[in-house]
Amino acid sequence: MPLKTRVYTLLLVLTTVLAVAITWSADPYAFETSHLVTAAILLVMIVVAEVLDISFPQSVITFHVSVSAAFSFAAGLTAGPVLGGLVVALAHIIDGVIARRQPIKTTVNAAGMGLSTVASSALYFQLAEPDRSTIGSFQNLLAGILAAAVYTLINTGSLSLIVAPVMGLGPIEMWRINWGGLHVELLTLVTLGSLIPVLIRENPWSIVLLIVPLLLGPHLAFKGIRQAHHETRVVMEGLADALERRDPYTYRHSIRVTEHVRTILAAMPQIHRPTAEAIIAAAHVHDLGKVGSQDGSLKKPAELSPEERQEIEQHPAIGAEIVSRLEAYRQSIDTIRHHHERWDGTGYPDGLQGERIPLGARIIAVADAFDAMTSDRVYRAALSKEVALAELRKGRGTQFDPQIVDLFETAIATRSLPAVPPVERESRHAPDAPDALARPFAWGKRVLPRLLARRPQAS
Ligand SMILES: [Fe+2]
Repeated sequence: MPLKTRVYTLLLVLTTVLAVAITWSADPYAFETSHLVTAAILLVMIVVAEVLDISFPQSVITFHVSVSAAFSFAAGLTAGPVLGGLVVALAHIIDGVIARRQPIKTTVNAAGMGLSTVASSALYFQLAEPDRSTIGSFQNLLAGILAAAVYTLINTGSLSLIVAPVMGLGPIEMWRINWGGLHVELLTLVTLGSLIPVLIRENPWSIVLLIVPLLLGPHLAFKGIRQAHHETRVVMEGLADALERRDPYTYRHSIRVTEHVRTILAAMPQIHRPTAEAIIAAAHVHDLGKVGSQDGSLKKPAELSPEERQEIEQHPAIGAEIVSRLEAYRQSIDTIRHHHERWDGTGYPDGLQGERIPLGARIIAVADAFDAMTSDRVYRAALSKEVALAELRKGRGTQFDPQIVDLFETAIATRSLPAVPPVERESRHAPDAPDALARPFAWGKRVLPRLLARRPQAS
């Protein structure tokens, strides 16, 4: 976990405590008995909504835009900033315990949601007419909309700030990427919270009825979206697999790279599950852009000409462009585009350096190079696991993220490598390989290793 993430988490907790203290000192009637029953019901509703985990994953990470946001917002509008904020924070702590989340994730959720509730509620009660309901006057409606906007900004802003260092992005970039397409759902859900206080005024228990429209409906909708994403990924992975069949030396390369990526991610339990899934999805199709490269360049058993190299080096950008049109890969575009960047900034296509390279791209770079080295190539036989790991160590801090190399080396030590089918040496066994490629192999096996001996390089 990056130091920045820990520091930002601590600052978020302190800010939340400070906000509660300030609003408490300004409101001596923060814990009215009449609000306690309502607060308890809202607490249960928030926990139920979180446990059912109706959320909308978008872009690089999943913001928890569950219906619990509506109940959290409503808690602030009904019970006031102090009691509402405490209820929301407590609900997320209970949810974290039930879901067995890492303490830091539970802390971020509880503090972020708590602060959003305190700030939005305080703003609402500053602006609203006290004798009217949340929808009882134009002034109160406007106050509710502004409070919802504040809730949204604080919630997504604090999460972006804390997660950005983990993803190797700037906080503003992180927020901007995730904001696109999310605002409609988020504002709709949060604004819905304005109606809940009206129901509570009638009868606090009436909000239990909302379980059907707010929990069941989104559940069914989200199930359909997930199915569509799954089918899209199956088709794209089939295309990537078919593409690799063109060359017997790269056959099933992406599948093995994906297994190595899974190995690395298993050693990084702090990575949010949807984020890990997006990185795995990217690994499956990371070389899809080679569909735009000529067979002659891909299979050439000798040093590439500058033009051929330029053509090959376009494949990350082409791959990113292809998947950019598919919602199922929305979180994977940058990972695919940057999987040939180098830690020292001399990679391609954009020459990103260090943690500016997306985390998923840094992980795939290590897995990609390792599989390239432990597989037969037209110019050399497969290297052993030990030799390949030694080569990765040489590229530690220059080509690769040193932390990823260390994690992979530790994780792979106890695992056997995924099976690599031996490459048939005759062209007749390689259905898509032109005959011309089979002939230079014997020559290439003797001479090319010396000509092409170089740093570890992904295929
Ligand atoms: Fe690649």
